[in-house]
Order: sequence, then structure tokens, then C-alpha cells
Amino acid sequence: MRSLTIRRPDDWHLHLRDGEMLKGVVGDTSRDFARAIIMPNLVPPVVTTADAIAYKKRIVDAIPAGDRFSPLMTLYLTEGTDADDVEEGKKSGLINAVKLYPAGATTNSHGGVRDFDKVMPVLERMAKIGLPLCVHGEVTTPEVDIFDREAVFIETVLEPLRRRVPELKVTMEHVTTKDGIDYIKSSAGNLAGTLTTHHLIINRNAILVGGIKPHYYCLPVAKRESHRLALRAAAVSGDPRFFLGTDSAPHVDPLKECACGCAGIYTSINTMSCLAHVFEQENALDKLEAFASLNGPAWYGLEPNTETMTLVKRDAPVTFPQKIETGAGPVTVFDPMFPLHWDVER
Ligand code: NCD
Ligand code: ZN
Repeated sequence: MRSLTIRRPDDWHLHLRDGEMLKGVVGDTSRDFARAIIMPNLVPPVVTTADAIAYKKRIVDAIPAGDRFSPLMTLYLTEGTDADDVEEGKKSGLINAVKLYPAGATTNSHGGVRDFDKVMPVLERMAKIGLPLCVHGEVTTPEVDIFDREAVFIETVLEPLRRRVPELKVTMEHVTTKDGIDYIKSSAGNLAGTLTTHHLIINRNAILVGGIKPHYYCLPVAKRESHRLALRAAAVSGDPRFFLGTDSAPHVDPLKECACGCAGIYTSINTMSCLAHVFEQENALDKLEAFASLNGPAWYGLEPNTETMTLVKRDAPVTFPQKIETGAGPVTVFDPMFPLHWDVER
């Protein structure tokens, strides 16, 4: 196959940041994607509907002229979140999900949840009004090995939580383990998972072999090869419970290339080329549309996009910049470590 036309894709987990970084990165998403679920982990986080209204305006103002892109806003769940405010945000059509960060799990998550009893009223209200909870599924207890954080989270936090509020729709984000895939597949309902571009391509060797490679470090951290293979199988299966959330998470190079480099991989600019490559390798190009353009909207109760995107396979490799320049500084682009031949036709 040399050409593939799919409905225009969406990104169901994206970090756009704010200020100069936002202005520098939003065009890489709006060029290819019609919609994206926007993560609320700003400093300070997007906690109230009023915060989300203001942040959405800043995003919309930064979209390059001519691009058609709708940011889908989320709220950052804290122990002080007000259920009425969440419900108002959902009713007004602005809020599409609430994001749960266990406190300390990842970048800018110190305001996250420590005591789940404190957020029960909000979760119960969300279940009642059909608002999904997006979950960063990692425990943060120091005794738990970083490579086991996801599996332990499922057992000790997510399963008990879902038993307490069975009607709550939960999106398990950036699943990185076979345990996560199996858990989603075995659930009776109300559970779906997003998969990132990079976790379909790298395993933990990318971070650690031949020297420490900070641009392959993200959270949840990439796991061993058997897990990557399970993620790929789920992505190309066509199972409606799995769909794309890139977790593209820009950080300026000086904050990654240092003694305590922060977590995040920037993939917005080349995700569709990378995914076409992966799906072709798996003999599943016919499933790319389900993964990138159909399963996500169905889960969030939205219509798929009516516009289309055509991907073409070029003989010569398609090149992307090694870094993009933003007003906040340079951001290194994800390098899949193989040549890309699939190109988005413009
Ligand atoms: C994200 C970020 O930088 O905001 N980092 C990452 O490695 N994915 C936070 C997150 O989604 O965990
Ligand atoms: Zn993220």
C-alpha cells in the first residue's frame, strides 16, 4: 500500500503548556489533529472551570491562522475540587474529562490526590453525569520499583476505586505494560486505555543502553520489550477500548539534558508518520483509522471528524527537524531511530 486515507485523527492526551511554549508547539498538533484532550498540569494547574475557560482562550489564540483545531479541556482533580463546578463545566460543554494525578507521580503533580476518600463526592458526581476520569496510573510509594508502578497501581488503587464507583468511566492513560492491557481487556466495561506513539516504538533500552538518553525518558517510563509488544498488539487490534493519546510533552532541552532531567517526549510533529510505520510493520494499516480517528471519539461520546487525512509512502525518507525552536527554547523531537517513509499529504 502506498497511500491511505483516514478520517482526520484526534489526540486524546496532549500537553500544550502555556505562554511561549504553547505558541511554539500548538501548530504541530493543529496541523494534523482536529481535536486533543488538553492536560491540565500547568503551574499552577487548571483546577476550576474558570481556569479552563481562560486556558482554552489562550490556546485558541495561539492556533496558527487557517488551522481547524478544537482543544478539549480537562480539570486537574485535587482534594479541594468542587463537584458543582465540575458539573457546570461539563454542562456548558467545556469540560470533557477530569484528570487524576496521584500526588508526585509526574511533572507538576504535587497538587494531586493523596487521600481518595476526599475526592469520592466528585467521582460519584462524575459517574452520575457521565464525565470520564483520565488516570495517570502509577503509585508513588518509594518502596515500589519505578518499573512496577503501573501494575501496582492497578491492583492497589484502580481496581478498588472502580469497585467503589462502578459507574465511573475511566480512561487509563498512556498504558505501558501488558498488565495494563490485560486489565482493560478483562474489564466488563467503563474502562478504556490510551497508548502513546513512543511506547509503541521504544523499550527501556532506548533510555539506558550506550549512555543515558534523556530524550527517551518519560513517565510512565518505557518498560521491557515484552510490554512494548503487548501495547502494539492492542493498538493494531481494532479493539475500541484502545486509542491514541500521544502524551506529547515538550520540555526545553536544558531541562532534559541535565543532572535531573525531566520526563516527557515530544511527538506531536511526527506522530502520524511514526504510527503509519508501526501499523504497516504489523500488517495492520487498515486498523490505523480505528486507533487514531474512531475509537477515541466513540469513547468520549463525540462524532468522528468528517474531514480526512491522506498518508502517502514516499521512496525517500521523510525528514523532521531534530529540534523545534520555541520562544521558550529548543525542544528535541522524538527520534524513532528508523527512517520514516509515511508522510501526511498537505
Ligand atoms: C508529562 C509532562 O511533562 O507534563 N511527562 C511525561 O513524561 N509524560 C507528564 C505526564 O503525562 O506524566
Ligand atoms: Zn501526559
